[in-house]
Amino acid sequence: MSNGIHVGSVDDIEEGEAEMVSAEVTGIGRDIAVFHAEDGNFYALDDECTHETASLSEGWVEGTEVECPVHSARFCLKSGEALCMPATINARTHRIEVIDDEIYLHPDTSGTAA
Ligand code: FES
Repeated sequence: MSNGIHVGSVDDIEEGEAEMVSAEVTGIGRDIAVFHAEDGNFYALDDECTHETASLSEGWVEGTEVECPVHSARFCLKSGEALCMPATINARTHRIEVIDDEIYLHPDTSGTAA
C-alpha cells in the first residue's frame, strides 16, 4: 500500500491530459500537475511554470513533454528540464506510483515514471 496522495485511477486522466493537485492537498505549499504522457506513463511536475505565472496542467502534452500554455516553453516530464526558451529554470519533479491502477503522488520526492 502506498503512503502517497491518492490522485485517482489511471482511467481518470486520459493520455495527453493532466490533473492539478492543489497545494492544500500536496501539503508542500505548491500545486502539482500530474500528467498522463503519451508513452503511457504518469509524471508529476510543479504546476506553476518556472518562467512566469502559468499552470502547466493547462498546457499541451506531446510525447513526454509539456508545452506551457502562455509562452510555449517546453519541459521534459521525465526530468523537469526546461527544453526551450523562454524558460531557463527546470521544473521540480515528484514521484508517482501506480498500484492496482490507482495513482499516488509523493510530493518533494524525485520523479520517475509510473
Ligand atoms: S509562463 Fe510559461 S513560458 Fe512563460
